[in-house]
Amino acid sequence: MLVAVAGCAPASEEVPLPAEVADRMAWPDPLEHALSGEAQRQQLCARAGDDVLRDLFCAAEPPAITGIAQLQETLGVADADIGGLRGLSITAHSTAVGARSVSAINPRVVSFQLERPDLTPPVELVAVAFVRGDQTAELVVRDREDRELRFYLLKYRQPCNDAAEGCLPGDLLSPATESDWTEVSLYDEEDLKNTTVDCRQCHQPDGPGTPKLVRMQELKTPWTHWLFNGTAGGRLLLEDFRAAHGDQTYGGMSAEVITQRANPSGLELWVEYANLGVNQPNEFAAMAIEAEMAVAWEQAPDAERPEDWVLHQSATWRQAYERARRGEAIPVPFPGVRVTDPDKLAAMTGAYAAFREGQLSQDELPDIRDVFLEDPYDRAAMGFATEPGLDAPAILVQACGQCHNDRLDPDLSRARFNVDRELSDAQRNAAIERLRLPGSDLLAMPPVHVRSLSPEARTTLIEWLSE
Ligand code: HEC
Ligand code: HEC
Repeated sequence: MLVAVAGCAPASEEVPLPAEVADRMAWPDPLEHALSGEAQRQQLCARAGDDVLRDLFCAAEPPAITGIAQLQETLGVADADIGGLRGLSITAHSTAVGARSVSAINPRVVSFQLERPDLTPPVELVAVAFVRGDQTAELVVRDREDRELRFYLLKYRQPCNDAAEGCLPGDLLSPATESDWTEVSLYDEEDLKNTTVDCRQCHQPDGPGTPKLVRMQELKTPWTHWLFNGTAGGRLLLEDFRAAHGDQTYGGMSAEVITQRANPSGLELWVEYANLGVNQPNEFAAMAIEAEMAVAWEQAPDAERPEDWVLHQSATWRQAYERARRGEAIPVPFPGVRVTDPDKLAAMTGAYAAFREGQLSQDELPDIRDVFLEDPYDRAAMGFATEPGLDAPAILVQACGQCHNDRLDPDLSRARFNVDRELSDAQRNAAIERLRLPGSDLLAMPPVHVRSLSPEARTTLIEWLSE
């Protein structure tokens, strides 16, 4: 029986459900309540640890980092260094924190340095992941004492953060976001562990005490979503990228380096070394999936495909997807090469090209992240929504299980809500309350930067939780 709590009305009373927050500028900042700048630096540096990032940021005179190229340069993984022990891999679809920002026209750039298989100095493990829009760079290094991987989030501010009108899409999605950073804050796993950008949920998915791992779900050739002039899919994505960005640099990397040197096999090797033999959980078997999808595309012309077509074409993909849907793994990448809707992609590519050529001002640039496929089954296959038609317990697992399960750290407040356990009335109430908040609220669940629920899914879940 439901216990009434403040702010939570039973589902039968007509309380309007929050709509999807279409304007991304209204999404909450997951680190709204965190310390920043120098105060954060002191908190971080007071913790034990010995790695490349701490050398830099915890030095008596830390360098002022003001842009992505400078950050890459400082860590030895800049444009000019690519080759040999250093590589560049760029993806047009991500299942990581910034997933809803990443597409071929706003890709995620990973530059990295390989460590030696025997972990001998002086070559240390480094990777920097960057996508425009989120005002962050994600970093991983290895601690010299315990040889563990250490994940860090670097968050930066731009002049627009202090302007009256705030940041516009043009400030966040153009070269403007790659330099002139005004404040940089560095967070470690401890700072982030009970936030919605917790790194460990995916990089230590079996919880405290188990191996940490770096990830690349499409680990093997043909690496379905990675820009690369050596695969058919990779070339397509590279063309989509170039149509918007032309010869401009992106993510600190020149157009030439992106076209000629971006290569997913580099990250494959780096990931295998870095994980010291730990496999990718629930790997996306790119070779088999692409083969099965290719046959499917040929057999079913666009117009003849039912809405849920994408879920049924690759048996190999479907197995991996089902494991994720049952809460056994993080969401798997989309089975097709492109995650973009052709019309939306054309419109945003046109807008970006016009901006690049000076016909559109930075203030006028639309939100070019808004290019994803609309079909609700496609969105479920991308990990951005739950599958239409599921019953409430299945929605709960697919929408919430990634962060609220039995494997993760039981000592966090987050763990009080756990989809693997019988839910108490108090937890059901707390969940209903969170499900009724607008996505712009930091406490709204699921967090909008991860996924959104359709009105039907939300209603089904709330009604079931109210029983
Ligand atoms: C929802 C799961 C998820 C979360 C949360 C997550 N990552 Fe990742 N991360 C991934 C996946 C998957 C990849 C592979 C590339 C991709 O899909 O974008 C990745 C890639 C990376 C990479 C590039 C090196 C590699 O592992 O391939 C870095 C660096 C990284 N993540 C750092 C972080 C940091 C720092 C955090 C916390 C702030 C974090 N990640 C949170 C899933 C996640
Ligand atoms: C990306 C990770 C993530 C996903 C997905 C997610 N949550 Fe959360 N949730 C969190 C974090 C982090 C907290 C702790 C911070 C807070 O209270 O907001 C939390 C807290 C909660 C709490 C409060 C627990 C307590 O007793 O303090 C409830 C209830 C909750 N979530 C429900 C849900 C529901 C329901 C869903 C799915 C519809 C969901 N969450 C999906 C990360 C997530």
